[in-house]
Order: sequence, then C-alpha cells, then structure tokens
Amino acid sequence: MSNEFRGLNAIVTGAGSGIGLAVATKLKSEGATIFGFDINKGAMEGVATWIECDVGDSESVKQAVAKVTAEVAVIDILANNAGVGAVGSVLDATDDEWTRVFNINVAGIARVTTAVYSLLKKSNSPAIVNTCSIAASVGLPKRAVYSASKGAVMSLTLAMAADFVKEGVRVNCVNPGTADTPWVARLLAAANDPVAERKALEARQPMGRLVSADEVANAILYLANPQQRSTTGTVLAVDGGMYGLRLPQ
Ligand SMILES: NC(=O)c1ccc[n+]([C@@H]2O[C@H](COP(=O)([O-])OP(=O)(O)OC[C@H]3O[C@@H](n4cnc5c(N)ncnc54)[C@H](O)[C@@H]3O)[C@@H](O)[C@H]2O)c1
Repeated sequence: MSNEFRGLNAIVTGAGSGIGLAVATKLKSEGATIFGFDINKGAMEGVATWIECDVGDSESVKQAVAKVTAEVAVIDILANNAGVGAVGSVLDATDDEWTRVFNINVAGIARVTTAVYSLLKKSNSPAIVNTCSIAASVGLPKRAVYSASKGAVMSLTLAMAADFVKEGVRVNCVNPGTADTPWVARLLAAANDPVAERKALEARQPMGRLVSADEVANAILYLANPQQRSTTGTVLAVDGGMYGLRLPQ
C-alpha cells in the first residue's frame, strides 16, 4: 500500500456496483474513507458508508451531502461515476428518455459537484474524476441518447477544469470501453444471443476482450492521486485500444 490516499475522504457516486464499487474498494485498501452515494446499497458493505442518494434529484443530493458534513469537514476526492444507459437510435428515443438520461448522467455531475464543492475546497489536494465513456468520442450504433450524454460529460469535464483551475481543484475524466460490470451483464442478458453478443463486444475492442472494472478504477485513482498535481482537463481512455487503434481485419 502507498501512503498517497491514507487519511483522505472520498465521495464515490454509484459505489454499489461495477466501476464505482471497484473505485471504493481500491480507495479503501489505500487507506481512504469512502462515502458511497447510490440509490442502492449494492455490495458496498464493509467498503464504503452507504448514503442513499439519487444524483438525479437536487433535494436527495443536498440531504446526502448534509450527512457527509455531519461526519467530516473535508472531501478530497469526488468520483462522479453514477450513470444510466439507453439503447436505440434517435428514432427510438422518447422525450422522457432524453430528460432522464441527461438529468442523471450530466446534470447529476453538476449537482453533486456543486453540493460538495465547499468541502472539496478545504482539501490540500482536491480532485474530481468523472466517469465518461468511449461513447463520447466514437460513434456507436443504437446508443444515441447515452452517447450524447457522455459527449456532454466530456465537455463538462473540460469546462469544470477551466473554471476550477485557479482554485486548485483538478477535474479529469476516464473514457472506458465496454467494461465487464453488472451493467453489461444486464445488457447481455437482454440480448437474443448473449454469447454471440459478448463475443461481438469483445471483438469490437482491439485487445479482443472487455475492460475490467478494476482497470477503470486504477485509472480513476491515478487521476485522483494527489501526486498528479499538474494533471487537469484530461480524458484518459481505458478502452482496450478502441479509440486510438485501427487494425487490419
Ligand atoms: N460498463 C461499461 O461498459 C461502461 C463503459 C463506459 C462507461 N461506463 C460508465 O461507468 C459508470 C458506472 O457503470 P457500471 O458499468 O459500473 O454500472 P453498474 O450498473 O454496475 O453500476 C452503476 C451504479 O450506479 C447506481 N446508480 C444508478 N442511477 C443512480 C442515480 N440516479 N443516483 C445514484 N446512483 C445511481 C446504481 O445503483 C449502481 O450501483 C456509468 O457512468 C457508465 O456510464 C460504463
């Protein structure tokens, strides 16, 4: 264990499952205290203090941050990771879907960041890491609403980094490829042929496999690490080469 996260306080949204759970688990093993903001407790028992919170609801976020404030005076790391998906082209998307996905994936980040900001400002090494997606930077079929929301997350990350740089608050994001989490397990379970669908998702990534939640969590910890004092406004791909590589078929 290194000492870089020892004694730091972190909020991880969506900490009950998948990438958020992997982030919380790694931060805890590095000596940090974690508050998990999630609508579900999921598997965070023994890893994080579950604070029931819907990032899509302002009142819920305010109440959650009030509970954190009762426990600690400073937050050093905010991992804005909670997100929801949507399947289909623009032709399939309903108004409700546009509103719901943008409210959680994009406004959720703004809402939690705003509510936590005064606690972050008290840290000696404040860092925000947003979970974006490969869908922000390449065109994926049948992911119109979700991709648009993650494109907004990428732009928002850069805008927040610019707004907060003079106050010493670093803001970065990770762009995972398809990651082996309960989210993807649910998508596969809903497919006509889950085995063939998984093979297709694996083949889409040049490394020929899905990314693991731990690999994404490692990247988030790298960006959150107080040692990365000069890293802000960056987008770190964790995508098995999907964004940058073009291989012969
Ligand atoms: N799995 C992938 O392939 C993949 C790829 C790229 C990006 N991502 C992004 O990673 C993030 C985490 O995804 P995952 O695969 O770990 O998913 P997951 O479904 O395993 O976990 C998501 C967690 O977020 C919580 N959550 C959902 N809505 C919430 C809300 N309104 N308020 C608070 N918590 C809420 C869920 O309860 C769950 O615990 C998401 O932002 C997703 O867009 C995932």
